[in-house]
Amino acid sequence: MLIKIKNVTKSYQLNKEKVHVLRGIDFEVASGDWLTITGPSGSGKTTLLKVLSGIEQPDEGSIMIGDFHISEGSEEERRNFRRDNIGYIFQDFQLFEQFNLLLNVMIPLLPYEKKEQIEKKAKEILANVNLSHREKHRPAMVSGGEKQRTAIARSLINRPTYCFVMSQQEI
Ligand SMILES: Nc1ncnc2c1ncn2[C@@H]1O[C@H](COP(=O)(O)OP(=O)(O)OP(=O)(O)O)[C@@H](O)[C@H]1O
Ligand SMILES: [Mg+2]
Repeated sequence: MLIKIKNVTKSYQLNKEKVHVLRGIDFEVASGDWLTITGPSGSGKTTLLKVLSGIEQPDEGSIMIGDFHISEGSEEERRNFRRDNIGYIFQDFQLFEQFNLLLNVMIPLLPYEKKEQIEKKAKEILANVNLSHREKHRPAMVSGGEKQRTAIARSLINRPTYCFVMSQQEI
């Protein structure tokens, strides 16, 4: 099984109020599965993806991705795991406005590989999402769909091992 989620709960403390978002989530995902999570706005989809990818920790329960207990790892272990294994597309894309699209796609690998090598990979992926002609544009100068495809390209540059790309938009 690729992903195993058992009895995961997560709540946020907002001033005196506790917002219970995830209550006892259980499911498994097999390799090659394509899973769609749907639900009303505010129902907890983003929260689920955040705990699944280790951006946030659940209050209770366990999450295994492959052999890794992501719900138990330290912040650094979770970050490293995410970097090496997960492609994540943020709901609001989180592109760096001051950088062009090419650099935005290169960012995840910048600390780890030679710049020329990263640039080559980023250009290939941008070509695959039909954005070669927009490499030098900044996010403010491209369309919503082009931003979205840039975020997809960036999520793929580390060639995620488990290849699950989390997206919260219609692709
Ligand atoms: N950091 C936070 N602090 C307090 N409450 C939060 C926090 N993040 C999310 N929430 C609350 O948790 C609930 C679930 O939010 P979440 O972002 O997971 O919803 P969603 O299903 O992704 O919604 P949408 O479809 O609008 O993206 C919401 O009611 C939200 O207000
Ligand atoms: Mg959301």
